Amino acid sequence: MDYKKFIKIVDNWPKEGIEFKDITPWMDNGEAFKSAVNEIVDFAKEKDIDIVVGPEARGFIIGCPVSYALGIGFAPVRKEGKLPREVIKVDYGLEYGKNVLTIHKDAIKPGQRVLITDDLLATGGTIEATIKLVEELGGVVVGCAFLIELSYLHGLDKLKDYEVLALVKY
Ligand code: PRP
Repeated sequence: MDYKKFIKIVDNWPKEGIEFKDITPWMDNGEAFKSAVNEIVDFAKEKDIDIVVGPEARGFIIGCPVSYALGIGFAPVRKEGKLPREVIKVDYGLEYGKNVLTIHKDAIKPGQRVLITDDLLATGGTIEATIKLVEELGGVVVGCAFLIELSYLHGLDKLKDYEVLALVKY
């Protein structure tokens, strides 16, 4: 499916100079959303995945239907101060800012095989931080799946050791 027609480009948002890729029209369209989720599920099959992990907020939108389809759990990675129990945390740089990501200490059991999902791979800061959290808990990242990769920001350079799926590339 040609997913690009469902992505709206918004200039200078959320900051001057950023060309934001709005995926809400993609999510709005049942057929396009289902097709994207199914492609990620196909990528995940055969990988014997135990749990899906996705960073706030758009990583949840992608990760939850994938975990549901696979019949496995989903663990959220959230910005600081959002998870109620004991967490581990990591600082990360973003395409447009800096932040801290956290995960519950008991979200991943050592040796669990993990698929990480997000809407967008930009600089790779978010996925790199999410991988760090998963690996610190002893999880094994067996794949990273995105709707969109901004190849001109070279996020893939941070994912050399991992299997990556991106449905749309700019
Ligand atoms: C956006 C996007 C990815 C990340 C990609 O999330 O959803 O998670 O940035 O950028 P990177 O590859 O340069 O790290 P954002 O932090 O804006 O959070 P949100 O989904 O809660 O809006």
